[in-house]
Amino acid sequence: MIGTYILEISYIIASVFFIFGLKMLSHPETARRGNFIAAVGMGMAILFTILFHTKDEQHIGNIGYIIAALIIGTIIGWVIAKRVRMTAMPQLVSFFNGMGGACAALISLMEFPHLAHGGLYTQMFSGEVLDILLGLVIGSISFAGSMIAFGKLNGNIGDLRIKWLRYVNIGFLVIIVGFIAFVMSMGEVDPSQIMGWIYLLLGIALFYGVLFVMPIGGADMPVVISLLNSFTGVAAATGGFLYHNQAMLTGGILVGSAGTILTVLMCKAMNRSLLNVIVGVFGGGGPAADQVAGSIKEITLSDASILLSYSKKVVIVPGYGLAVAQAQHLCHELENHLEDKGVEVRYAIHPVAGRMPGHMNVLLAEADVSYDKLIEMDNINPDLPNTDVVVIIGANDVVNPAAETDPSSPIYGMPIIKASEAKNVIVMKRGMGKGYAAIENMLFFHDKTRMLFGDAKATLQKLVNEVKSL
Ligand code: TAP
Repeated sequence: MIGTYILEISYIIASVFFIFGLKMLSHPETARRGNFIAAVGMGMAILFTILFHTKDEQHIGNIGYIIAALIIGTIIGWVIAKRVRMTAMPQLVSFFNGMGGACAALISLMEFPHLAHGGLYTQMFSGEVLDILLGLVIGSISFAGSMIAFGKLNGNIGDLRIKWLRYVNIGFLVIIVGFIAFVMSMGEVDPSQIMGWIYLLLGIALFYGVLFVMPIGGADMPVVISLLNSFTGVAAATGGFLYHNQAMLTGGILVGSAGTILTVLMCKAMNRSLLNVIVGVFGGGGPAADQVAGSIKEITLSDASILLSYSKKVVIVPGYGLAVAQAQHLCHELENHLEDKGVEVRYAIHPVAGRMPGHMNVLLAEADVSYDKLIEMDNINPDLPNTDVVVIIGANDVVNPAAETDPSSPIYGMPIIKASEAKNVIVMKRGMGKGYAAIENMLFFHDKTRMLFGDAKATLQKLVNEVKSL
């Protein structure tokens, strides 16, 4: 009995740890500690469950298997997290998210035959059955969708831009809802006798997860990633309901609600409604998307360093290429040298720059760039006409004017950093490679724009040397 009290209290403490951990994740300075605190909460919930959980006066069995699985899982997770490149982090997050969904689906699959409490027959029209079926469906969709998102972010899977697919998807959604209603309307049955239907539902949900993410691409990808996050949270929460487990419930609800809030914020940032992302017309890079007018102009390192050193206001726009080149420290060095010369340097942060929410904030925080220098897109845009030079480092889609001018573009409607409004624009990238949305960028052909070609790290190193020597 005392063990049950200890267990309940440990779940409450774990839940408090999750809440504080999540709160601390919202700022780069406290994020690392927040992550640790939440992990301690999770570790505590697992340990106390193993020690004190009882059912019918019986303690948890198969302790050997559980500990072996914990050790193997910890080692694999540790090694992957240690080795992963910063640029592959979004894929890893997608993968881990998918694993969470798979766990929730497996719990439902395991627990369905156990529904027959004491007797052979169980009433299917019950909250418990609904809970299990929702866990199965949402967890499976999250798993399959996250695996597709992983493949897309990793560059292994392209977008399947077939317009009629959205009707197929809506059809699948209706079938899934109908299937849940069908199982629940079966009356009193032996759950183990209808496992065939449950496996069929699992298959449909997995297939829907694949089809749901396949057509979504380009600028809509961040929205779908945070949506899948919230799915996993909700699926985990169904497990919490099932087992009357407060820690699982709180953890699931926190992930679910945080993911939902992030989805709404991402939609706002991309100027899209959620419905539009899920079943809307997905950009295919219409005829105007790749039209190019004008020619590109290059700038030499010494001209770039002179232009920057004699400016009053410089704004750096970081993008995915900065993360690829791992040039954030050199970027900070350039900022310091320019500031020593009396230049005001700030960073323009686009909400979907890079490949994961907050990617640029994390990247620049790692290089000790002061947080108050990171200015969000909406706040920096009005100040760009007074800016002498905008330096774009490895960014492309987030400064692409097609988002404002080309209705056939896959990024049309997405707000951008209006670099062309500054007096001068310098673009650092390796060549004329396209961005994530795979479309041409007319900004590179603009009168004010000068290209500084090369890997961002190598170019920044040379630029820092030039600026220093002036
Ligand atoms: P992108 O549009 O992806 O452009 C990155 C650019 O960096 C490329 O054009 C590439 O050109 C350049 N580059 C790559 N490696 C480089 C290196 N070593 N040195 C210098 N330049 C390098 O980046 P963005 O502007 O940050 O936009 C992000 C895109 O990703 C958006 O479309 C967004 O919707 C999407 N997305 C975002 C997220 C989240 S949540 N942030 C998630 C999924 C997708 P070169 O090849 O010519 O060098």
